[in-house]
Amino acid sequence: MDKLLWVLAPLVLAGGVVGVLAWRGRLPSRTVLNAAFSLLLLVYLLVTAGLGIFWVAHQHLPVFDWHYVFGYAMLVLVAVHLAFNFRMLWHTLKRRQTPGTGAAGAGTLRPAGPARPRVAAGVARRPWLGAFALLGMGTALGTAYWIGLRQGRTELRVVAGGGATPTDAVANAQAAAAVVEAFHEFSSHSRSGVFRRAASSDWDTRPPPFKALPAATQQALPPPLKARAEGLLTRQGLSTLLWHTAGISLERGGIVFRTAPSSGALFAAEFYLAVRAAPGIAPGLWHYQPQHQALALLRAGEPGPALLPAGAPAALLATALWRRSGHKYGDRGYRYVLADLGHALENTRQVAAALRGSATLLPQFDEAALAALLGIDEQQEGVLAQVLLFGAPVQLQALGPAAQVPVQAGPAALGVTEAIHRATSLRGATAWTASTVPAAPSTAVATAQAAPDPLPLIAARRSHRRFSSQPLGAVPLQQVLVAMTTAPAQLSTAVRVHVLTLTVEGHTPAAWRWDARSRRLLYTHALAARTARAQARAAALGQDVVGDAAAVLVLTLDRAAFAADPAGAARGYRHAFIEAGLLGERLYLQAQALGLGACAVGAFYDDEAAALLGVTLGNEWVVHFAALGVLNPQG
Ligand SMILES: Cc1cc2nc3c(=O)[nH]c(=O)nc-3n(C[C@H](O)[C@H](O)[C@H](O)COP(=O)(O)O)c2cc1C
Repeated sequence: MDKLLWVLAPLVLAGGVVGVLAWRGRLPSRTVLNAAFSLLLLVYLLVTAGLGIFWVAHQHLPVFDWHYVFGYAMLVLVAVHLAFNFRMLWHTLKRRQTPGTGAAGAGTLRPAGPARPRVAAGVARRPWLGAFALLGMGTALGTAYWIGLRQGRTELRVVAGGGATPTDAVANAQAAAAVVEAFHEFSSHSRSGVFRRAASSDWDTRPPPFKALPAATQQALPPPLKARAEGLLTRQGLSTLLWHTAGISLERGGIVFRTAPSSGALFAAEFYLAVRAAPGIAPGLWHYQPQHQALALLRAGEPGPALLPAGAPAALLATALWRRSGHKYGDRGYRYVLADLGHALENTRQVAAALRGSATLLPQFDEAALAALLGIDEQQEGVLAQVLLFGAPVQLQALGPAAQVPVQAGPAALGVTEAIHRATSLRGATAWTASTVPAAPSTAVATAQAAPDPLPLIAARRSHRRFSSQPLGAVPLQQVLVAMTTAPAQLSTAVRVHVLTLTVEGHTPAAWRWDARSRRLLYTHALAARTARAQARAAALGQDVVGDAAAVLVLTLDRAAFAADPAGAARGYRHAFIEAGLLGERLYLQAQALGLGACAVGAFYDDEAAALLGVTLGNEWVVHFAALGVLNPQG
């Protein structure tokens, strides 16, 4: 709102001056008014074009998107118009300041009349004025582009301190943790950030939304099940699992929506299936093709232990194509692909359990080795998760720790994304042993069966951005929070849940911490009733979905907790982000079960969000917002 006031202020001022002059009976001539408003138009146009061009250069946005192309065409037209008229404008304004020229007539609107010959004479005497104006305009816009390209820091300020051998483990871990610190700060939004930082890499090529492998043998998958049933490791079971993880659930307005949410509907994740023993699917390495609900064979034959540890019948491998997200979100994209993946993998987990099997996220694997086996280039697509699939609940035990990848000095082709992916990667194969869970299965299965069936919830889930002004009940809010935090931590114990109650029955506007153990909201501080919504909306980059929500759930990472991750602090950061995504999807599904509306929100000012919650960035990093509210019957 304050932005709007600043932008409109010159217009309001000009309107006010004209109003006062008219009231005093001294309204300038039509020509003078025309000249003054032309000048104002010129200033607004130049600021708009300058900001646009700065932004395109600064964010490495595609230079020839439709609306930019129209913008450039408009600039050319204005330049031509200016060339024709600038001398007249100049002359008119000059004449107004020169007493005795007779042009600054007071009183009623009247045509320029006798002034015209003089304007023409002035024009004839100063033929350079138009060219001068054009040159000024071109220089201003070129400067905006130049500043946009150079403004801000583009590299992580991290001195590579790691060593190259496993004996340098401590140095490697410290250097990787320093990259995480620097990356998180670098990818944080703040109001001043735009002047301090520029994109660290050229993001402008956008990969296609689906990975086509035309040369590979395709195997069509049967339609996914619509309700829970027995049997994960069958063709039908795996088809159901894959569809609910990343399948297409809606096509609307040219956008293909998937079963899991994804920031900007960009769906950077790709999924691969390594099969050893699943009836109906030949042993081998397959790629999931959501556009056909099919598998494409990458390599036939039993996968080796790196892809599929001994004893496991199948594994799901998740990667991300960095540029799918990066072309829109730039260096913050790595955060989004992790959170997106967490949402998708929660579906995997819940569907595996609903089919009486299990999906277990491995905390340690060797990214580079897996990328080589999948045949992908890590600068384009990186491995982010390895999930073991069993036909029953299992417990896994690592037979040895993996090592931290040494941090590399110097610029990386993919900028900070390459740096953070490398810093959070491990190397060296980790062996796992799996044992079926002994006593728990009957109770675990019974509990899973008592919970709502996740299959129809996932199939129907959507992000909702319009909420009714009706308050949210305290009980459904509690149910959502319980659903988010009851399952044991999969990869990380570092995620904390905060709540901003904006219109919740029995709660004044306030910030709270959710205590998962006691299942209670702990009061942090009050929010001013008059400004609570505006504050929440402002912190979320002005998004109405947050300002209009009844409650905003905000996830943070406890820095000390992820620093203590057994796989190292840097890997702990990645784990915690994915874990936040798992919680985020539970929120969506529980909201769906209760008939409420929810929407994940990854775009926010990190510093303002922390201040709103009352957390200090030294202890907790805000990583995810989710808006929750009563659905608006009008849609
Ligand atoms: C990590 C993450 C961040 C998101 N951030 C935003 C956001 O800032 N604003 C928004 O309106 N939607 C956001 N979304 C919602 C996506 O836009 C939405 O999932 C996508 O358009 C697909 O639509 P669907 O969820 O209805 O399938 C986010 C989703 C995820 C998973």
